[in-house]
Amino acid sequence: MEYFLLALLAYLIGSIPSALIIGKLGYKIDIREHGSGNLGGTNTFRVLGIKAGIIVTTSDILKGTIATLLPFMFGWDEINPLIIGLFAVIGHMYPLFAKFKGGKAVATSGGLLLGVSPVLFLIIVVSFFIMLYITKYVSLSSMVTGVVAIIVTVFQQEIGLIIVTSILTLFVFYRHRANIKRIINKTEPKIKWM
Ligand code: G3P
Repeated sequence: MEYFLLALLAYLIGSIPSALIIGKLGYKIDIREHGSGNLGGTNTFRVLGIKAGIIVTTSDILKGTIATLLPFMFGWDEINPLIIGLFAVIGHMYPLFAKFKGGKAVATSGGLLLGVSPVLFLIIVVSFFIMLYITKYVSLSSMVTGVVAIIVTVFQQEIGLIIVTSILTLFVFYRHRANIKRIINKTEPKIKWM
């Protein structure tokens, strides 16, 4: 029962569509109708600019981190934070509060990893920005960083973390199907500020 309650709460937290809220409240814009249409930090940066992008990315990261802290907050220490965190990522991708059409799992997965392994989080942030500097593609950098995260967890030799990071990376690849096609067709937009 405790597992179910925390998983549900994590899913609801993940379901909070930060990009939609910031777009509508701050800019009177439905971000789903602009740019890539994705409810995520990248599209918010693209459509609404740096301030909104930072707010949305930070909120999406926090959703994952808060979810991993729920077992501790409720004093139910026997519950695995990795599994609860996964439900926040599912909520982010398929949000109850935005017709089940959400983001691409990157920031919220990062937040999950921040909650359980800050060192791993730091490594993936560095890896992401190195990839971004080289490729200029946010999507490709996100996917490669997912693979880097798996490799790092293999070295950390924590089986739970290896499994969950692999699931997260699968989510990230699955949600970037359209981006992969665009990268192959050379129509994926590159960032201009780096
Ligand atoms: O975090 C999502 C990013 O990797 C791609 O977003 O809007 O370019 O499809 P977008």
